[in-house]
Formats: sequence, structure tokens, C-alpha cells
Amino acid sequence: MSLSVVILAAGKGTRMRSSLPKVLHPVAHKPMVGHVIDSARQLGASNIYVVYGFGGEALKEAVTGDDLTFVEQVEQLGTGHAVDQASPFLKDDENVLVLYGDVPLTKVSTLESLLAVKPDNGMGLLTVHLANPTGYGRIVREEINGQQQVVGIIEQKDASPEQLKINEANTGILLANGGDLKRWLSNLSSDNAQGEYYLTDIIASAHSEGKVIATAYPETEVEVEGANNRVQLAQLERAYQARIAEELMIAGASLRDPARIDVRGNLTTGTEVSIDVNCIFEGNVTIANNAVIGANCIIINSTIGENAVIKPNTIIEDAVIEADCSVGPFARIRPGSVMKQDSHVGNFVEMKNTTFGVGSKAGHLSYLGNAEIGSKVNIGAGTITCNYDGVNKSTTTIGDNAFIGSNSSLVAPVTIGASATTGAGSVITKEVEDSHLGLGRAKQRNVSGWNRPVKKS
Ligand code: UD1
Ligand code: CA
Repeated sequence: MSLSVVILAAGKGTRMRSSLPKVLHPVAHKPMVGHVIDSARQLGASNIYVVYGFGGEALKEAVTGDDLTFVEQVEQLGTGHAVDQASPFLKDDENVLVLYGDVPLTKVSTLESLLAVKPDNGMGLLTVHLANPTGYGRIVREEINGQQQVVGIIEQKDASPEQLKINEANTGILLANGGDLKRWLSNLSSDNAQGEYYLTDIIASAHSEGKVIATAYPETEVEVEGANNRVQLAQLERAYQARIAEELMIAGASLRDPARIDVRGNLTTGTEVSIDVNCIFEGNVTIANNAVIGANCIIINSTIGENAVIKPNTIIEDAVIEADCSVGPFARIRPGSVMKQDSHVGNFVEMKNTTFGVGSKAGHLSYLGNAEIGSKVNIGAGTITCNYDGVNKSTTTIGDNAFIGSNSSLVAPVTIGASATTGAGSVITKEVEDSHLGLGRAKQRNVSGWNRPVKKS
């Protein structure tokens, strides 16, 4: 049977105190509803219906895909009414899974177990046993054929004192055949304590038709928790980060403190990778075997090669760091940069749009922008590529084995040949041919009998 997913996302989220629709508040830089959509896709859903109420435009901008259909729920008349907005799209002979846009951490494996328990002609319901189920709908069971079968869900506000003692709670996540679901939704009434069309009432309908309602359970409670305010959002963020940290460690990475790493995207690590505290990884980051990441690094959409050492307080973005390189401390490698194998960049070096050749070194205090730098080049401290005239960016080309004296200003476009040298403090505006020494500085002259200025009393 094919699968469609209906994601409820119509709540305004007043308690977020935000102009952003609640489901667009992020966990790990991704809107909560984006996580839910990811899960739906991993389950192989052919269609995903997002039921929205507020901020439809913002929602359509934030989450996209051919498989998404946005369905407006003009008035929020209850969860049953919300799902019913998708009814015109649902096929009779498909599985329909209901998820919630503000419940981002449900594991795909949990949803798979729900798909697995549902009888072809019955329903699946995800429930959770809670020490304190206050506020949740309670799962009502009765003994049928010697088994405690689900026969209904009773909302907190409609429950009797006896029912309030039930600690099996409704997560809201359920699975039904499209045809059944549409029939049950069309028969809902709002005759209850909250005057709402409760999705939960379909359970009693299913039972009265003799359908079996099978249950599945999440591994942990956080999988079915939603975020109504920023405190709960921060708790989900921490839970998400703890889960990712655990996955990284299981995959063979060493984290000095799993509570002090933030992954906002996809981080892939090889074996024997070690990551010190307070690092942030964004977008797609790959770290190869034996690489070491020091404390306080920020690495965005980049690749770190085998045995590379990224020293503390380094920022790397849209860059490739090949094997055996060392970078930092306090280096900034900006977009379009490639550090070839075994190259070295030290403190306060900024690199942008630069290829830095095999075995080359820039140990201290440099700006290298729009540069093509060969292998075994030494860039002296304080060297600057003057790549920008206020309008145009120009290229600096440096050949293999060149030695750039400290505090050189390389005024681009300019070429320094292979094995060429520039004198310290030079302003280089013209090509330096291979193996030549380029000097571009005033000659020193020493003045005798020079008196230093004295302070006036
Ligand atoms: C619902 C369940 C309850 C369950 C609990 C789990 C019902 C009647 N009750 O209660 O059994 O234990 O979730 O958290 O289903 N929404 C819409 N449109 C609406 C109403 C709600 O999109 O008209 C969305 C909300 O934005 C929210 C979700 O549905 O994301 C749940 O709605 P909410 O009102 O919070 O339901 P609960 O009272 O918590
Ligand atoms: Ca709720």
C-alpha cells in the first residue's frame, strides 16, 4: 500500500511570542516541520499534505518539494477538522499517517514500527506510558478475546476521575486506511468539553466497526514531545544534539564532551576522529579518518582530510582541507579555498578563494585572497594579497618553491615565479620572474646624531 502523510501545522504558536509560525522555529537550523517532512520522506511517503493556518507564505518558502501539498485550515476547529482538510486528496486504498509539525524528533524507526503493527484492515496508534500524563488524551482499553484492546481515546477535559488514572497517553500520531479515515472524519461531532472536532474520536468509530487498533511505542518520550514555547524548543534542541553526539560516537568519533557539540546539518566522520569542546558544524561537513578538531572551531560545508589538525578557534567555510594539513589556531578559511595536502596555515591567517599548494606554509598574520599558490611556497608573516581595487578582484599567482618575505604586499594582478623570492616589506606590483629576487621598498638610510623628540614640561 502506498503511504500519504498529513502533517498538522495550523497552530498559531502564541506561546512562542513570535511572528514566525511555530512550526518554522528551528531545531538544529532546520524548521521543526522540516524534520517531520524529512521523516515522512524517509518512510517513502508518496504525498505529504501540510495543513497550515497562519503564515502560509512563510511556510511555502521555508519548506519545498514536489511531494508537498499545502492545505489551508482557515479556522482551527480541532485536530479532526484539521486532518479532514486533506480528505479530498486522500486515496481510499492507501495508508495515511498523521504527524505533527511541532513534534520534530520522532524516529523513523518508531514510525516504521507503527507501520509494521497496523493490520491491513485496522489502525495503528502510537502511544506512550507517562508517569504524569496530565493534559494528554488517555488510551481506553477493554478486554476482548483475552487481550486488552484499544477501544477509544478520552481527552483530559472529558475524562472521568477513573479514566484520568490511565497513564497510557495518546501521542497524536496514528495510521489508518484513507477510505476509513475519510469516513470516520466525516462523522465527527464537536459535542465535547472543548467544542472541537477531535481526531481522537475516530478510534471509537474504528472499534465500533470491529477494526483492530494496534499500538506501537517510541523508544523515548522526547520522540513525541512538541514545542509550545522557547523553553521546550531549547529542550528539543538539546535532545536532538545529544542524539547526534551519540550517533557520532557510535560511528567511531571521540567527543571530548558530547554535551558540548552542535551539529546543524550533516556531519560525517571517519574513524579515530577527535573533536574537542564547543565546536559547531553546519551544512554538510565531512571529516576523514584520524583528523583532529580543536576546541571552539566552526566548520561549515567543508571537507577535512585524513590526519588533518584543525587547531582551536578556527573557522572554515565552503572549503576543502586535504590530508595532513594543519590549520590555526585562530585561522579563517573562507569560501572557495582549497588547502592542498600537507599545507599549513597558522594563527591570524585569512584565506579566501585561494588554492594553497602541497606543502606550502603561511604561518602568521596573512590575507590570501584570489590567489593561486603553488607547492612548497613559504608565505612570510604579514603578507597581504592586495586583490581588490574597490571594483575588481584580481588574481595573485605564486609559483612552486617561492619564498615571500615578511610583510610583502602583492598588488594583484601579479605573478611571482617559481623559486622566486620577495624581500621583506616589499610592495610587489610587477611580475617577479622565476628564481629572481623581487625588491620593492625604499632603501634604508641611517641618520647620525638624530635627537628623539622630548616632552615639553
Ligand atoms: C492532542 C490530542 C491528545 C494528545 C495530544 C498529544 C486531540 C483531540 N487530542 O491534544 O489526545 O494526547 O494531542 O500532544 O487530537 N492543530 C491544527 N488545527 C486544529 C487544532 C490543532 O493544526 O484545528 C494542530 C496544532 O497546531 C498542534 C496539534 O494539531 O500541532 C495538536 O493540537 P492541540 O490543540 O495541541 O491538541 P492537544 O489538546 O494537545
Ligand atoms: Ca498539544
